[in-house]
Amino acid sequence: MIYDFDRVVDRKQTNDMKWNSKAISSYVHLEIPENIIPMWLADTEFACAPMIVEALKNRTEKEIFGYCAPMESFYEAVCYWQKKRFGWEIEPEWITYIPSVVAGVNIAVRTYSKEGEGVIIQQPVYDPFASIIKNAKRKVVNNGLICKDGHFEMDFDELERLAERPENKVMILCSPHNPTGRVWTKEELVQVEEICIRNGVMLVSDEIHGDIVYKGHRHYPLLSLDDRYTKNVIHLTAPGKTFNVAGLKGSISIIPDQKIRETFVQTQIAMSLDVKNTFGIECVIAAYTEDGAEWARQEVEYMEKNVDYLEKYLHENMPGVTMIRPEGTFLCWLDLSGLGLSDEEIFQRIIMDAAVICVPGPWFGPGGEGHIRLNLGCPQSMLVTALDRMKRALKIVGLSEV
Ligand SMILES: Cc1ncc(COP(=O)(O)O)c(C=O)c1O
Repeated sequence: MIYDFDRVVDRKQTNDMKWNSKAISSYVHLEIPENIIPMWLADTEFACAPMIVEALKNRTEKEIFGYCAPMESFYEAVCYWQKKRFGWEIEPEWITYIPSVVAGVNIAVRTYSKEGEGVIIQQPVYDPFASIIKNAKRKVVNNGLICKDGHFEMDFDELERLAERPENKVMILCSPHNPTGRVWTKEELVQVEEICIRNGVMLVSDEIHGDIVYKGHRHYPLLSLDDRYTKNVIHLTAPGKTFNVAGLKGSISIIPDQKIRETFVQTQIAMSLDVKNTFGIECVIAAYTEDGAEWARQEVEYMEKNVDYLEKYLHENMPGVTMIRPEGTFLCWLDLSGLGLSDEEIFQRIIMDAAVICVPGPWFGPGGEGHIRLNLGCPQSMLVTALDRMKRALKIVGLSEV
């Protein structure tokens, strides 16, 4: 079956966050213009995959929505998906339902570190990581990414130094990486993990973007690389990004080691995060199937065409704006530093004037200056309009060639 990713779905009357000017205003503390093109929040504009919609309809018809708990079919679906997508054989008992990956990161940070201790992250990175660490009264320890010859890389020497410090107990790895779009190679993953395991650092591997990987690249679940890694790795994932179902709240932790898993679950219960969503469970079961895999394959193929379009457009129309082509994720990290504008001016031109709601680079921490993150998980018509608006808004500042 061929799925239609060009179709525009009207999300305005759906209690949806991305299109809600009030929700956006509360983030940026400014009155957001009408007629926005929202390319900020990391969900897609595609109608949910039909096999999920069908499963939810069938569940609704059962007319009962009491407290729920996943049964065998949920665990089987997760095992099937990891094997099919990544060739990774996992056991059902390693799996725990969590309401969201962010909740999973929060649980892990609070379980494996104490107040005042350090948690290593690699900025610029998905901003809730830093907020979770700060809210838990831990310290953000930045092992900043290096941009070398148009390619983001990890600074392994610095990571080794940071991991050696006894107060740094946890590292959060974003794999694939949001916002730079890096899909870490097997060698890079092994290097990170070897540093962490050698130094007794618990590695929380957020692999929520692992299904969205472009031609020529491959995502490796960290835990699949060596049996020894079960001693210090927490794997977190979800169908949320791949299938655009973040609102259904059905995410997953995979922890092979029984002791580590038990301590994780104890904190989860203590934080009252062991709540489950009926539809989240049904969604996982419906998504992690052969049909789901085919839908995701076509979606990734479509999004890669958006990346092609963006790359060509920037090259032909926006000198001063560059992009390192993402290897995965539907997020594009644009470097506007060539325009000579401050972050405030970039915000004004793109968000306020063009009404293209992207995420300002500084939100991702050091290294984000002069950048924006654009979400390409949308029908191409939306991307075309957004880019034309951005081009015009940048012209407003009187840049000669733009
Ligand atoms: C790296 C990363 N982790 C987690 C999430 C959120 O996942 P969840 O909705 O399951 O908390 C996102 C969403 O943007 C993300 O990019």
